Amino acid sequence: MTRQIVAKASEVAPGTSKVVTVKGREIGLFNLDGGYFALANRCPHAGGPLCQGRIVALVQSEGPGHYRLARQQEFLRCPWHGWEFDIRTGQSWCDPNSTRARAFKVSVEPGATLVKGPYVAETFAVSV
Ligand code: FES
Repeated sequence: MTRQIVAKASEVAPGTSKVVTVKGREIGLFNLDGGYFALANRCPHAGGPLCQGRIVALVQSEGPGHYRLARQQEFLRCPWHGWEFDIRTGQSWCDPNSTRARAFKVSVEPGATLVKGPYVAETFAVSV
């Protein structure tokens, strides 16, 4: 896939996400403590709108009645059936060997490197 400019970094604050459309495909952008990640907004289980799910922590347990939350805000829970995916890789937590949400590479670059000048302001005719 070719590179696309999809959003300003400031539009996706740490701990939040934003769904953008690139060539007719919805893609969720995520900011995890300043690191940006992108997943297809299509759950590999049954096609649900994965990126509209809740951002959650990984729940770990060493036995009945004991649990702890790890990797806060690094997992995405699909709103349809609750499957959870690692936002960094798209890997399914319940079926890691065969199920993965499609992940896309994300980079943040200064606007001047993406769009070369000279810049021309848009003007409008005005009469008083
Ligand atoms: S469609 Fe996402 S868990 Fe079923």
